[in-house]
Amino acid sequence: MTRRRRLYDGKAKTLFEGPEPGTLVQYFKDDATAFNNQKHGVITGKGVLNNRISEYLMERLGEVGVPTHFIRRLNMREQLVREVEIIPIEVVVRNVAAGGFAKRFGTKEGTQLPRSIVEYYYKSDELGDPMITEEHITAFGWASPQDLDDMVALALRINDFMSGLFLGIGLKLVDFKVEFGRLWNQDEMRIILADELSPDNMRLWDIETNEKMDKDRFRQDLGNVAEAYQEVARRLGILPEGGPVDFKGPKVLQ
Ligand code: TMP
Ligand code: ASP
Repeated sequence: MTRRRRLYDGKAKTLFEGPEPGTLVQYFKDDATAFNNQKHGVITGKGVLNNRISEYLMERLGEVGVPTHFIRRLNMREQLVREVEIIPIEVVVRNVAAGGFAKRFGTKEGTQLPRSIVEYYYKSDELGDPMITEEHITAFGWASPQDLDDMVALALRINDFMSGLFLGIGLKLVDFKVEFGRLWNQDEMRIILADELSPDNMRLWDIETNEKMDKDRFRQDLGNVAEAYQEVARRLGILPEGGPVDFKGPKVLQ
């Protein structure tokens, strides 16, 4: 294995220099944080599952014309992605009231929203990812009105597609967060989906029982966190070969 330069060490993922210019290796960790880093934990096997789940969802989205940074999975914990300039905004789409929304507006968790609601948060650990509006985004120059239009259109398409996909396997897509990046090709710029799509960044409830199958199991100490992620992967038909025994995955050289 070759030594690679570590470019960015995040809470749940590490980014390494990729094998060719314009590519990165995205390594999925078992670490989990919640409530703006106040709560830390390790969910054994999460990285392996999220690598698989994100691969699957990005591939399916790619097939329906959503541009993504995903190129291919390299091994149990790593995938090759396109290097993009990350737009420092978290786009959240909500279908059902939960989490921060339920708290902010005093809406009972589980209330179906009259329509899908798009929200923006500024990516800043120091500030605790404050909620922002289009005004802040364009005034501070984080994204242009055109970029923002593209991001919202993509986020809503992702919502439509994933809602249907999860419904088909008995899961309700309550809400999710996505991040986008700018991909340059000479003078042309395209906005593409980046980061990851996994139960770390979305809420999934069982249609029948309303059981939580996502990171809320960790946030709320509900137990069986890895088992819930594994069940999502099982229903998607993508459980890693070898099952839980492979969870440790290969060791990465740094
Ligand atoms: P929230 O209800 O806590 O605002 O979260 C909305 C959705 O966004 C939920 O699916 C979890 C996801 N999310 C992240 O992926 N990262 C974050 O930092 C936060 C706050 C939420
Ligand atoms: N991942 C975020 C954090 O570290 C928040 C969350 O997902 O609840 O704080």
